[in-house]
Amino acid sequence: MFDPDSWYADEIERTIITEDEIRAKVAELGARVSADFADSASDTGDELLLVGVFKGAVMFMADFARALTVPVKMEFMALSSYGSSTTSSGTVRILKDIDSDIAGRHIIVVEDIIDSGLTLSWLLKYLQGMHPASVSVVSMLRKPGVQRVDVPVKYVGFDIPNEFVVGYGLDYAERYRELPFVGVLKPEVYQK
Ligand code: PRP
Repeated sequence: MFDPDSWYADEIERTIITEDEIRAKVAELGARVSADFADSASDTGDELLLVGVFKGAVMFMADFARALTVPVKMEFMALSSYGSSTTSSGTVRILKDIDSDIAGRHIIVVEDIIDSGLTLSWLLKYLQGMHPASVSVVSMLRKPGVQRVDVPVKYVGFDIPNEFVVGYGLDYAERYRELPFVGVLKPEVYQK
């Protein structure tokens, strides 16, 4: 719940997804993915591989992995997108790559948010080039109507309005990632 006495009350306009709603949604997504990939390890001879994208997906990745009832391995990538700090350009540079061979593996890309879709679109092409058995995407948040490319996201937590949101991994100028809920940032914070 939004706490008017908290340090962030001056900067966050309102909560759009509470900590309880996040917890329930993570459990639901974990159950769906576990059911869909129940046999993936015996299929391929290796565990389902979660690929998280730094930094925003870290909170969701940690919670989502623990909501699964199938064994997984975890990898993280760090990507840098050229362009301004608020818009993606679609040109992506890899700062940290995955460490394992993904050929023949079932992969789930774990994202915090799909905005323009350009980061994910690039990443899916990159991963497909390594011939995995399958690549699916789970994203906690998605802003409908703003995708500039068509990206197949099988598992979505919440569709949210096109507002400046922070918390649960999402930042503004590297702040607010640690908030346990998703909130809308007051415009005066980023219009300073
Ligand atoms: C965010 C988010 C996604 C991407 C989505 O990452 O984590 O990876 O932007 O935007 P898009 O759909 O418009 O491509 P960001 O580059 O802000 O880095 P961060 O996760 O370190 O905050």
